[in-house]
Amino acid sequence: MTVSMEKIPHPRSVVWREDRLLLLDQRRLPTETVYLELTTPEEVREAIVKLAVRGAPAIGTAAAFGMYLGVKDIPDVDAGRFWSTLRRVGENLRSARPTAVNLAWALERIRRRLETLKERPVSELKAALLAEAHEIQREDADMCRKIGEHLLTLLEDGMGVLTHCNAGGLATAAYGTALAPLYLAKERGWHLRVFADETRPVLQGARLTAYELQQAGIDVTLICDNMAAAVMQKGWVQAVIVGTDRVAANGDVANKIGTYGLAVLAKAHGIPFYVAAPTSSIDLQTATGADIPIEERPAEEVTRGFGAVTAPEGVQVYNPAFDVTPAELVTAIITEHGVIRPPFGPGLQEAVQRSQG
Ligand code: MRU
Repeated sequence: MTVSMEKIPHPRSVVWREDRLLLLDQRRLPTETVYLELTTPEEVREAIVKLAVRGAPAIGTAAAFGMYLGVKDIPDVDAGRFWSTLRRVGENLRSARPTAVNLAWALERIRRRLETLKERPVSELKAALLAEAHEIQREDADMCRKIGEHLLTLLEDGMGVLTHCNAGGLATAAYGTALAPLYLAKERGWHLRVFADETRPVLQGARLTAYELQQAGIDVTLICDNMAAAVMQKGWVQAVIVGTDRVAANGDVANKIGTYGLAVLAKAHGIPFYVAAPTSSIDLQTATGADIPIEERPAEEVTRGFGAVTAPEGVQVYNPAFDVTPAELVTAIITEHGVIRPPFGPGLQEAVQRSQG
């Protein structure tokens, strides 16, 4: 199934055009729509580290095109250089951010694809690499749409839905994961009331989720993270839907810092807690959430987020970008293959197997 990009009401975050990678600079939203034009893998790595591109699937797609930028000018006679550069560029990109497994997943997928063509000429390998990057992006769009359709079976017209961070079109190739059912509900004429957590400290919820839902004409209300409990207590939320950066083999879920707290709150209020997870975010090699590396980011994100100094000079800061929600707090994990209920292990394995054909 091909997703119609015309239906996506906000700009695309990752665009390949004439041997250049155009990345929507998400740090400048919602006020400015500016694309970075990148021509080297080093620039792509920097854009990932500095959050110009963010969101697990978008990071994976950007890295895949970054790999191509690293090898595209290697002369066709130089196969040795092609393979050594591929390794070096891959390692460099992979180390950009540690938590979202889509980054390693995309690079590994490219490596495997090229291994099957090992004896082919360099020109053919380059073409195959570029084609694989496009395929990763296309498949991501399809996965999002399917996740949205499965998630929609868990919702009803008129519900209140709370989401955290940005797991929307800006974080993926099209509809997003957690936000996909909201777009599909809108297409069906449903009215859902969406609460978007602001998502301290980088404010992906305010700057990206509220922006893209508003652009789409969806009823969205922005709240600070510490208001989620009050909104639930009022009975305004019937489902929490979040994305993920990595799902461990037992169903523990790494996602933006604050997700774990929301899951605890949802449990306390008897609200289902759904995780939208493309199979590219499932890591069966990681047994439990305790084994997921959690990125820690600069203190300045907390002490002087957007220019203004909001903390005393020199204060100690702890700034983990993600947390782990234990599987027992998760009601269901929704992949492109359907809805998985606890215990999650067998369902996650089956979904990954299906995606590998
Ligand atoms: O630090 P970020 O903005 O890259 O974190 C993004 C998230 O935590 C998203 O919820 C996750 O990547 C899922 S995106 C479909």
